[in-house]
Amino acid sequence: MTDQTPVKDAPAKAVPALPDAQTVTEVKHWTDRLFSFRCTRPASLRFRSGEFVMIGLMGDPDPKTGKQKPLLRAYSIASPSWDEELEFYSIKVPDGPLTSKLQHIKPGDQIILRPKPVGTLVHDALLPGKRIWFFATGTGFAPFASLLRDPQTYEDYDEVIITHTCREVGELEYGRRLIEEIRNDELLAELISEGFADKIRYYPTTTREESPKMGRITDLMRSGEVFRDLGVEPINPESDRAMVCGNLAFNLDIKELLEGYGLEEGANSKPAHYVVEKAFLD
Ligand code: A2P
Repeated sequence: MTDQTPVKDAPAKAVPALPDAQTVTEVKHWTDRLFSFRCTRPASLRFRSGEFVMIGLMGDPDPKTGKQKPLLRAYSIASPSWDEELEFYSIKVPDGPLTSKLQHIKPGDQIILRPKPVGTLVHDALLPGKRIWFFATGTGFAPFASLLRDPQTYEDYDEVIITHTCREVGELEYGRRLIEEIRNDELLAELISEGFADKIRYYPTTTREESPKMGRITDLMRSGEVFRDLGVEPINPESDRAMVCGNLAFNLDIKELLEGYGLEEGANSKPAHYVVEKAFLD
């Protein structure tokens, strides 16, 4: 028996249980700025790929009252809805109220997870189309990590193009590995419709470190380079749908570009051609 083993009839005081607690099962550090982790999934949690939930930790005790309040932020669920666990992909902000603490979690630790999924990056918010574009910067890849593992994505579209713009090459690794995993994993291949791997077109770019494709995706769209590279027609409202997740300036720039191609923004209540969500920033 170890010190941690619960003893029958032990005094009830011990450590107070977190509200909506889930247990961390795995943590991976990708760069000094990025990490991902997995945790248990509440039995009652149903969500649509692309949605987010509020997660966090208990904050520091109030110096006056000694009371602790939960410190919560919106995080896109990166795992698909069929996965028995949940996965999240996060930035580490050195002085960020939550991520400065969250980056130190280890398997066995508890986090708070409010089981109320919401969000606009869902298939229901888009009209039927032939090709879907996922535009991400940085940790904005997270909702697409979910959608790329959702069979519906391949049932609904003939072609899935995922663009990911990061400052440095190392920041692409989480996404690159995920796509490799989808392409190579027999189980995933079985879960998702036949021949799905060929439907994925992956277009990573970096802006501050040398890589095979340099530049902001927005500039590569304006110049037409991305369409030439992929051998596809420029975006048009008849065949193309898009989901966007990145920093605020990126979202606004892509929005303007998509509207310029004639696409209209959709919502759960009024499906149209594209949808946008802001990536989490601490
Ligand atoms: P850049 O290095 O030119 O700023 P961040 O880490 O700041 O969120 O940025 C992630 C990636 O998104 C970076 O490669 C950054 O390029 C790019 N980015 C930032 N703002 C925009 C924007 N308005 N349009 C396109 N790409 C952007």
